[in-house]
Amino acid sequence: MVKTAIFASGNGSNFEHIILDIQNKVVNNFNVALLIVDKENCYALKRAEKLGVKSIFIDPKSFDNKNEYETKIINILKEHNVEFLILAGFMRILGGLLLSEYRNKIINIHPSYLPSFKGSNAIKNAFDSKIDKTGVTIHYVNEELDSGKIIYQEYLTIDKSCTLEDLEEKVHKLEHRIFSRTLDKLFKQ
Ligand code: GRF
Repeated sequence: MVKTAIFASGNGSNFEHIILDIQNKVVNNFNVALLIVDKENCYALKRAEKLGVKSIFIDPKSFDNKNEYETKIINILKEHNVEFLILAGFMRILGGLLLSEYRNKIINIHPSYLPSFKGSNAIKNAFDSKIDKTGVTIHYVNEELDSGKIIYQEYLTIDKSCTLEDLEEKVHKLEHRIFSRTLDKLFKQ
């Protein structure tokens, strides 16, 4: 059983779906020791409370620099024997300390079919570019934004009548369907 921590900054719907899939035994090869957030009032924290998952808010602003912030995070991860980090809407670029401590052990979900539409606003950018498909990518995190080795990705079609809100909903549904299952397969090996 692989021990993970999930990192989030906002809504936390991916976090919740992963936890529900674990609790309902849809996936069996990993657990989530804790949720780490960088925003004090983010909705992910409320979800954690409801789901009975330990959560910690670590305020980046209370540290002098990124190294000190990440040292604090690493200490907490070590206390919980965390082996892999799952980024699920964590809106912060990781620094060298976390990346070297957890090299090839940090996984992110991105709402586009990479390498298209890296960075924030990926869903809107795909929508605005009027292409007929986009997707979701699950990948390892490295020094370059949204550029690490791809673990799994899936397309979805953008119909002519699709609004931006429809597309956002479609992308999130796809994320919720594939994230925990992809992690489960990965951790089984
Ligand atoms: C998702 O679209 C994910 O791909 C991106 O951030 C969003 C997080 O959504 N990295 P949520 O907080 O899990 O609802």
